[in-house]
Amino acid sequence: MTTVFVLNGPNLGRLGSREPDVYGTGSLDDLRAVLDTQVADGFTIDLRQTDDEATLIGWLHEAVDAASPVILNPAAFTHYSYALRDAAALVTKAGLLLVEVHLSNPHAREEFRHTSVISGVATGVIAGFGFDSYSLALDLVMRRLG
Ligand code: DQA
Repeated sequence: MTTVFVLNGPNLGRLGSREPDVYGTGSLDDLRAVLDTQVADGFTIDLRQTDDEATLIGWLHEAVDAASPVILNPAAFTHYSYALRDAAALVTKAGLLLVEVHLSNPHAREEFRHTSVISGVATGVIAGFGFDSYSLALDLVMRRLG
């Protein structure tokens, strides 16, 4: 059984009520339900959210130790957290998939969102498709590891 870590950074716990025009009306529980429905035999989803950088870094360490692929929405940490980047690099340097995802397309938004310090160490990036960004990432992970 492969556990796919689906890790979410700050303010994503407010999905559903947070800027629905940008992020949609679905909650994190709705996202969990979508991914649980999609997941194939042999895979399981472990979806988590935190507003805390240290916690998110700890979860990436946990993914390395468990040899688990990661789907990561770093939220605002995307744009400035070198500590999170270094932790993400541990995942891909260990030979594990790390797919950076975003609900919105940061490149179509404010200038500060155009920089991702995570992308350079991610396996790849999917952005701009709402919950489908996660679904596409999960399909990719299952195709690569199935
Ligand atoms: C986000 C985009 C980030 O710029 C923002 O800080 C978020 C969410 C997205 O999923 O579109 O919190 O990662």
